[in-house]
Amino acid sequence: MIRTKFIRRLTRLALIVLVACGIGGLPAARAQARPKPHRFNLISWNGGQFIYGVDYYPEAWTEPQWEKDAQEMQAAGINFVRMGEFAWAKMEPSEGQFNFAWLDRALRILNAHGIKAVLGTPTAAPPAWLYAKYPDIAAVSKDGIRYRFGSRRDTSINNAHFLAAARSIVTAEAEHFKNNPAVLGWQIDNEVGGPYCYDSTCLAAFQQWCRAKYRTLDALNSAWGTIFWGHTYSAWSQIPLPWNTLYAVSNPGLALDYHRFFSDDTRSFVKLQADILRRISPGKAITTNEMGLFDPVDYSRLNTVIDFVAWDNYPMLSSPDYADYVAAGLGHDLMRGSKHQQNFMVMEEQGGLPGWTMFWAKQAPPQLYRVWAYQAIAHGADGVCFFRWRTSRFGTEQYWQGVLDQDGYLNARYRMVSRMGKEVKRLTPLLRGSSVVSNVALLVSPDSRWAFDIQPTTKSLNYDRDLLDYYSAFRRRGLNVDVIFPQGNFSKYRLIVAPLLFVTSPALTERLTEFVRQGGTLVLTFRSGVKDEHNAVTLETLPGPFTALAGVVIHNFDPQADQKQDIVMAGGARYPAGVWYDVLTPTTARSLATYGERYYAGQTAITENHFGDGNVFYVGTQPSTPGFYDGFIARALHSAGLTTRPLLPAGIELSSRQNSAHKIMFILNYTNHEQSVQIGEPTHNALTGAAEPSAVTVGGYGVLVLSTSRTEN
Ligand code: GLA
Repeated sequence: MIRTKFIRRLTRLALIVLVACGIGGLPAARAQARPKPHRFNLISWNGGQFIYGVDYYPEAWTEPQWEKDAQEMQAAGINFVRMGEFAWAKMEPSEGQFNFAWLDRALRILNAHGIKAVLGTPTAAPPAWLYAKYPDIAAVSKDGIRYRFGSRRDTSINNAHFLAAARSIVTAEAEHFKNNPAVLGWQIDNEVGGPYCYDSTCLAAFQQWCRAKYRTLDALNSAWGTIFWGHTYSAWSQIPLPWNTLYAVSNPGLALDYHRFFSDDTRSFVKLQADILRRISPGKAITTNEMGLFDPVDYSRLNTVIDFVAWDNYPMLSSPDYADYVAAGLGHDLMRGSKHQQNFMVMEEQGGLPGWTMFWAKQAPPQLYRVWAYQAIAHGADGVCFFRWRTSRFGTEQYWQGVLDQDGYLNARYRMVSRMGKEVKRLTPLLRGSSVVSNVALLVSPDSRWAFDIQPTTKSLNYDRDLLDYYSAFRRRGLNVDVIFPQGNFSKYRLIVAPLLFVTSPALTERLTEFVRQGGTLVLTFRSGVKDEHNAVTLETLPGPFTALAGVVIHNFDPQADQKQDIVMAGGARYPAGVWYDVLTPTTARSLATYGERYYAGQTAITENHFGDGNVFYVGTQPSTPGFYDGFIARALHSAGLTTRPLLPAGIELSSRQNSAHKIMFILNYTNHEQSVQIGEPTHNALTGAAEPSAVTVGGYGVLVLSTSRTEN
């Protein structure tokens, strides 16, 4: 994980919220006949046990230590490890000479203690001899400088030498372990999706990708509008990458296609390995460890080539306020949504402080690590694997704490992991077959996110911030939220919030229109419908393709950065708002709020429009206080015919899963003091076996897992 990723996480994931507890009612939009995707069952895959694991690096410790490690893991209820993802140099010490014997021995010891493994393919850390022999495998930065050996994930995924070496090690590893029952499956590489690729092999691959997409240069020139500044291309080989131009600008159409190319290219790299692994070891499952809101890769497309989603969850990097659980929640929900809402696992769960050259966060009370791990389960994880078993003595990650510190002392974090190990065992029969159910969805548009990366539009516009504002409002009421992508199934939802839908295609516009026509409620926000799928500005009056749906036109807007602005609701309440102001002229919509300041005071800021059998809200600005979103979301839920819930106390999360027999509610307390929560019905405490009243108390940093028999959906 590179530092820039953390910085991105810190800025992007500043806040969030999640899950819904069966809001009653049938989907308004007519169910479409779609084949149900095959759902991978992680608990069955792990022999009927909830996956409870640690990331383990036996290669970094002496062999006599392994038996002790395995005993201590077993005592803590650990039944799973992820190993090997950085061990290429140990697996292939010289070209074509493979050595897996050490890993056989480690697997034998672990397996004797009831622990199974996922093995990483080690392609994120090629050995020094490979760089020495083929210096061109190293990636090239935007400035045209080739990285030097000494880090990780720094190769070009289009370089023929690197790909040949990757095929060879993956083939050898798969052949060696294909019949080993202690190996459940594979993690391909490690946190794929970087660095962005600017070497000559990537340039050629991008030019080829463009050719396959546009067929003719005329089509490409027209889609990108290359007439601007005379960038017209007369040969495919002239097409550049969005690299170090003067003023760091690139054609927006080219830049958006480069993002799509890079995401596809990453998928091809994962697929190349997945194809080898499937062919050689057909019984073993395939995943890769992903990164939630990380955006260089469109996970919804990548994940068609893997069996289940796994991701790396570091809530300490999502928000410096540890009582603010929403960013981590959104990460879980996005990951679940990236593969048809199928249950997933956390391959790296925060097990200690994060840091590389320095510690990057303040220490959390040991109990909070347990709360975060339960949050993953509450959002649909059927496995949690703590990063890492023991903190490294060496290298870049000396300040990234594992469960144990370097001294191996069985500390408070270990005791917390052990406590939870017993609990997940007890909970497994209840969790089996359960999943998160929601009538509410948040639409994430990778194209729009990338387009805002390319042209942020205003200094303060932050796509993920807008996602979080709406998401948080559902989560403050304990309502589950599914994250969906443009190609997903909309018909099962009653309410879709589609923030900042900047880039649209005719197909997406039509699908949203159909959703509303059939009775769905849609929330659109400012800057919607501005760009076509080539990142060119629409010729239509804004909000472009959404004009009829929203029942508004926009003839003026104000990309206001620092000036004070308020919105005034029809009932008189005022809320501060920032970032952007669309001045709305309702055509068929009615005004719900007006602007309070500047020369357009009194003109419309928010509208509601009936369209077909449904409703569309258009929010022309970004209100900056939670109070607005709480009221607005209650109204949108009402419009969608959904029951809402009272607001939860601050720092309390409520999320639910359900199976055919039970609804399982998770009450998570991220604060240090006891709080009480209205559940509304008596429940059964799945951890203690006790009956619980309809109002429960949860201690500081406490967790309640409550179940009720299911009588409704
Ligand atoms: C990522 C990686 C791990 C480790 C941690 C901590 O999540 O997958 O290998 O590097 O970050 O930096």
